[in-house]
Amino acid sequence: MKTKKKSVKTKKSMKTEKKSIMARIAESTKSVTTGVEEKDIKHWLTIYIMGKAYKVPAVLTIMQAMEYAGYKFLRSCGCRAGFCGACSTVYRKKGEYRLQTAMACQTRVEDGMYLVQIPFAPAEKVTYDIDKEDYSASVFLKYYPEIARCVSCNTCTKACPQDLEVMDYVQASLKGDFSSVAEDSFDCIQCGLCAIRCPAEIVHYNLAQLGRRMYGKYGMPEPEHLKKRLGEIKSAKFEKELRKLVNTRRKELEKIYTGRDMEKE
Ligand code: FES
Repeated sequence: MKTKKKSVKTKKSMKTEKKSIMARIAESTKSVTTGVEEKDIKHWLTIYIMGKAYKVPAVLTIMQAMEYAGYKFLRSCGCRAGFCGACSTVYRKKGEYRLQTAMACQTRVEDGMYLVQIPFAPAEKVTYDIDKEDYSASVFLKYYPEIARCVSCNTCTKACPQDLEVMDYVQASLKGDFSSVAEDSFDCIQCGLCAIRCPAEIVHYNLAQLGRRMYGKYGMPEPEHLKKRLGEIKSAKFEKELRKLVNTRRKELEKIYTGRDMEKE
């Protein structure tokens, strides 16, 4: 009797567990797009997420479409505004041979897109002390010797979703032209798509970061307004105001914060 009772109990608990797993799956695949009735959506298209077809509204970005299809981002999503570089995506369109790249939060879905997210481009992060480095091309070759293998194929530039002239700044680094490396790479969001496409296996975004750091330290003239502000801080110009803020109650601080000069949306 005892044994029978035990086995009934086990079956029951298995059923409960099964239910909760199914409930969890249903929960995780629920669309996060809210406030829109399906009957109000006029244009639909089909995309393929890792090979599986989904019908999604035509107006969505890749990121929104993936969420509409039921995917929940644990990786490959950050700012949702084109700044953080987390949502790197590669895709091919139906009937096209070309593998294309995009930022999922900034690109609209198109019919027949075969999509996959690239959450991370594997690359070693070198460490250096810029106070001890030479302000010459040798610093690039020292940490990123693979730049010498650049064959100027321009694949990196074509892969860049920010439309940066990536190959140009790799070439500039070989010449020790820090200012061009810094200027040309200024809008890089480190998504890594250039690096995963490069046949010479260059890690462009890390190279560019080194260039910007070196240029900021050694090449760029010190901005006048920064010099002035540093002088003011050193002469304790803001000390009284700062002390006043530190002693202000939270409610009052909130009022000051929300009432500050802000750019209109
Ligand atoms: S989520 Fe940050 S760039 Fe797309």
